[in-house]
Amino acid sequence: MTRTVLTGIKPTGTPHLGNLLGAIRPALRLASDPTLRAFYFIADYHALTSVTDRDELRRLTREVAATWLACGLDPERVLFYRQSDIPEIFELAWLLACFTPKGWMNKAHAYKAKLAENEAAGAADVDAGIHMGIYTYPILMAADILLFEADLVPVGEDQKQHIEIARDMAQRINHSYGAELLKLPSALIDAGTAVIPGRDGRKMSKSYDNVIPLFAPAGRLRKLINAIVTDSTPPDAPKDPATSVVFKIFEQFASREATDELRRRYQAGISWGEAKAALTDLLEPQLAEPRERYQTLIAEPRRIDEMLAAGRDRARALARPVMDRLRSAIGIAE
Ligand code: TRP
Repeated sequence: MTRTVLTGIKPTGTPHLGNLLGAIRPALRLASDPTLRAFYFIADYHALTSVTDRDELRRLTREVAATWLACGLDPERVLFYRQSDIPEIFELAWLLACFTPKGWMNKAHAYKAKLAENEAAGAADVDAGIHMGIYTYPILMAADILLFEADLVPVGEDQKQHIEIARDMAQRINHSYGAELLKLPSALIDAGTAVIPGRDGRKMSKSYDNVIPLFAPAGRLRKLINAIVTDSTPPDAPKDPATSVVFKIFEQFASREATDELRRRYQAGISWGEAKAALTDLLEPQLAEPRERYQTLIAEPRRIDEMLAAGRDRARALARPVMDRLRSAIGIAE
């Protein structure tokens, strides 16, 4: 039995090394499993909850698309599309909203975190600055998932609650109409997914402004690596790999042998300049080829748009019968 694996990628930042390890590689690995069919899409309307500059949204959407393609996503194998191209998602979102108790949204993490921030700041209105896009975010996300009858949804731990909400919604609707109208999805949380530190040692994340972009030109890659924090241990003193940001990034991209070798050099005493050069020499050849593919794609946005349009057509052909079945079951259509 072929199961469907589906995930959304929010175009809110330029893809970086952390995304490659935490999301892109694991997702592409799943897509190559012959017992699975993969649906990966760009969640551009979800990004609208935070990116409100039109040029930036356009740019980030293309960057994310080009990145996944350059990293090896095969659009023939993987259904690759833009959320905003599938009107059925938004139709389903309304239907789901009509079955979503408001209390479920009150408990959603992102909304609760915003409330807590307002409370901590002593705001007169605890809902200040919170729009309905944030509040109803989990409904749109459930529509993304349920429309394509996904079995498995690979996400980070922070998104687990959203998958549970989607599951609860499906159950409610199935129960209301006494039929298995919607498939119940499960979160797929890969405990082995690597988290790498950014240049300042905290988790690599756009919000900390400490990322190393995946496709920075070679010279900039070297500069960013040179800007990674180190301590003031003298150059020939032995160094502890376990507390070194350079080492932690290195080991995620290196073979066991290369990692052991660098560990020995740390123990023998390596200068930070040499450690950083080792990291640059490791990454540059791994990134050069996909970077070139990326540059070619990004220079031809029309080609990216065409690929996404082909994904849209295939995705809509699958979405329509699901929506027809639902419309008929709820009494909107015969
Ligand atoms: N909310 C997800 C995130 O922030 C992105 C997303 C949108 C998603 N729709 C989805 C993930 C559907 C999985 C399935 O990363």
